[in-house]
Amino acid sequence: MADRYNVLVIGGGGREHAIVWALKKSPKVNKLYCLPGNAGIAQLAHCQDIAATDIEGILAFLDGHKDINYVVVAPDDPLAMGLVDILNQKGYMTFGPKKDAAIIESSKAYAKSLMKKYNIPTADYEVFDNYDEAIKYLKTAKYPLVVKADGLALGKGVIICQDFESAQKAVKDMMIDKKFGASGDKVVIEEFLQGFEVSVLAFTDGQTLIPMPPSQDHKRALDQDLGPNTGGMGTFAPSPKFTKKMQDYAYHNIFMPTIKALQAESRTFSGVIFFGLIVDGEDIKVLEYNARFGDPEAQSVLPLLRTDLFEIFLAINEKRLDKINIEWSSDCAVCVVMASGGYPGHYQKGYPIEIGALDGNIILFHAGTAIKDNELVTNGGRVLGVTAVGQDLQAARESAYKNIHKINFKDKHFRKDIGIK
Ligand code: AMP
Ligand code: GLY
Repeated sequence: MADRYNVLVIGGGGREHAIVWALKKSPKVNKLYCLPGNAGIAQLAHCQDIAATDIEGILAFLDGHKDINYVVVAPDDPLAMGLVDILNQKGYMTFGPKKDAAIIESSKAYAKSLMKKYNIPTADYEVFDNYDEAIKYLKTAKYPLVVKADGLALGKGVIICQDFESAQKAVKDMMIDKKFGASGDKVVIEEFLQGFEVSVLAFTDGQTLIPMPPSQDHKRALDQDLGPNTGGMGTFAPSPKFTKKMQDYAYHNIFMPTIKALQAESRTFSGVIFFGLIVDGEDIKVLEYNARFGDPEAQSVLPLLRTDLFEIFLAINEKRLDKINIEWSSDCAVCVVMASGGYPGHYQKGYPIEIGALDGNIILFHAGTAIKDNELVTNGGRVLGVTAVGQDLQAARESAYKNIHKINFKDKHFRKDIGIK
């Protein structure tokens, strides 16, 4: 075991900025690298423009940087591609699940079958790999229902359908027109559930599971949950609606059963597991699993972490998560995403970003930013995550919105109602 580590983080969004920001505080972390990173991450870590899915490029970078001895794989795609397995074979210590465990995110059909087999509460569903059979099913199904592409689809592969016509179109888009490539070879068609949504991220070494403060995402582009789905327009944590009683229920009926189910299937999960839950009165069900920190959930949860994040990573590597005490601040955090006008549809890149003097409780996480001709410019759909930490949700929200007005770029767009629901 080394005394200090030189750590490479794979990814380049707001989530990765939050991870790098947290790791930077660890006395055990010496040098930080990030691929591809962004302009904000570049202030904390050495970045190079190598995509998170460019496995060959990442391996070549590691060959050229022999001092790196720990790799954090943060995004879904490289996890699904088995980057952790490849790095372990080469002798690197890693953070993130192996491919056979990451399948709980990369195949919705697998996730559903696991939940069914182990009685983990989730929406009723059917899986189809044949277009005609899916359409036949849709003709007699109850509406609304939800059509989901089996594989990864940048959060866009879930369509809520009010009637047969829209469901038929969704299935055709996925299975025939291959809108999401091979991710749509199979579809899951499931019952529409009512309720409020909560994201619970949890650390796990495959045996012990420690939930982080519950957070709430805002997936729609516009205020009052209108407009198209996005990767997430803002989050807050902890969620006051997800009570202690609900947390206990979820721990015993969802979280631990999932970890044990994966163990029983020889797919032991190590890393951060994300439970997307929907709560309707006493009823709590799983909408989805992710095999990683959420984005933007990480930007509101990690600022509340008091314990050294890298110490938690090491405890997970050494399967001694039950031996460490993870502490959280009693504060609240609100993260408001500033997006490019047009996102999640077409948007422009390269607009200069101006940032005034921000208050001390603000952490500005970069997502789609770059440096061009020595100037900070927009470089993606989600540009920045303005996180405010305050003693309660209202204080954090007010502070986030007070400070967001000090940040400007052409066609900026953000929701005005993050933290209100
Ligand atoms: P997922 O990627 O599976 O979490 O789905 C994305 C979003 O679609 C969720 O955050 C929900 O808002 C919505 N959703 C997914 N499944 C259902 C369902 N069975 N009932 C109602 N809404 C759903
Ligand atoms: N914010 C949802 C996700 O990370 O998938």
